[in-house]
Amino acid sequence: MIKGKFSKITIGRGILDQISSEIRSIGPSKVCIITNRIVSKNWLDKVLEAIHLNNGLETIEIGDGERYKNITTATYIWRRLLEKKFTRKSLLIALGGGVVGDLAGFVASTFMRGIYFSQVPTTLLAQVDSGIGGKTGINFKGKNTIGTFYQPKFILVDTQFLDTLPNLEYLNGLAEVVKYGVIRDVEFFKFLENNVGEIKAKDQLVLQKIVKRCVEMKVSVVEADERETGLRMILNFGHTFGHSIEKLTNYRLRHGFAVSIGMMMASKVATEITGFHQLDRLESLLKNLGLPTSTKLDLESVVKETSKDKKAWYGKTVLVLPERIGKVTINEVEQKDILRILRK
Ligand code: NAD
Ligand code: GLY
Repeated sequence: MIKGKFSKITIGRGILDQISSEIRSIGPSKVCIITNRIVSKNWLDKVLEAIHLNNGLETIEIGDGERYKNITTATYIWRRLLEKKFTRKSLLIALGGGVVGDLAGFVASTFMRGIYFSQVPTTLLAQVDSGIGGKTGINFKGKNTIGTFYQPKFILVDTQFLDTLPNLEYLNGLAEVVKYGVIRDVEFFKFLENNVGEIKAKDQLVLQKIVKRCVEMKVSVVEADERETGLRMILNFGHTFGHSIEKLTNYRLRHGFAVSIGMMMASKVATEITGFHQLDRLESLLKNLGLPTSTKLDLESVVKETSKDKKAWYGKTVLVLPERIGKVTINEVEQKDILRILRK
């Protein structure tokens, strides 16, 4: 358990039952679970049983997929909450992956100027990344263009949810797992290298160790820089190129896969800018886990697209570059230099 500055986080397998005492410790007037039809089909009954509330409990199911992370779905939830007489002392629980979490967090932060919120992440990506740290958002003429920082009161990370997760979604989350090793912890990176078979087989001990360490790293970064004025940017390693690749593939390529390729591209740029010399090691780990390391997209288009990245505050491309595995720095790099290095 992590009693963080912002949220109380419980991590483990089969810890879902603790949801009832977490809710009681808040004492909300009403509770609403926001989920989607896939997660609902697999897990809602178990969650309702664990919550064990007869009155004042609602469930709102939204469609499955990124295309529902929008203002129409937010409006639908706001309306339902008003109809059901939810107040500022009510609690919203996000039960799902990053889509449900981002959307429910956005709704919770805006309804009545902010009501209680908690996260029960059910994908690997949400357990190690999106469910932690308080970034909320919806897509509006672009991805995550509208959003807030809003911290959950409690986060329950139960690795049991991953039992029903399709393999592709599991792999999607693994890219973010590798990211943590590169940005923060060489020992963790070594652990991943030494446990590829166990990771692929979803070995429970290994999985719990991984999720716990990633959550610790994310919490430490977010607590130091909640609003991403500096340090938090390191969590975007691989994301600048990754976002360009996602956009250029019309979001058909999953985020984690694009980030995996993006980490390779950033690391190649780093060979010249920071003297990074462990590109082969990163490539081997990503490949061994089954993640992509290159793209057939036109390099110039990918690089051009990076100027639209949210970090390009003053129009220049800002890249998180590794100096060595376990340590990264933030750099402004000219697009012509990026292109020249990537073409080598
Ligand atoms: P997702 O929420 O779409 O979930 C992926 C798929 O898995 C969906 O089809 C979902 O229904 C299904 N699913 C979820 N849990 C399941 C389970 N236990 N068993 C079976 N199926 C399950 O995608 P995601 O990868 O979790 O999240 C992606 C979103 O997260 C994007 O919108 C991205 O912008 C956002 N994100 C936010 C942050 C942040 O800090 N807030 C960070 C990274 C990504
Ligand atoms: N996923 C990046 C962040 O939370 O800052």
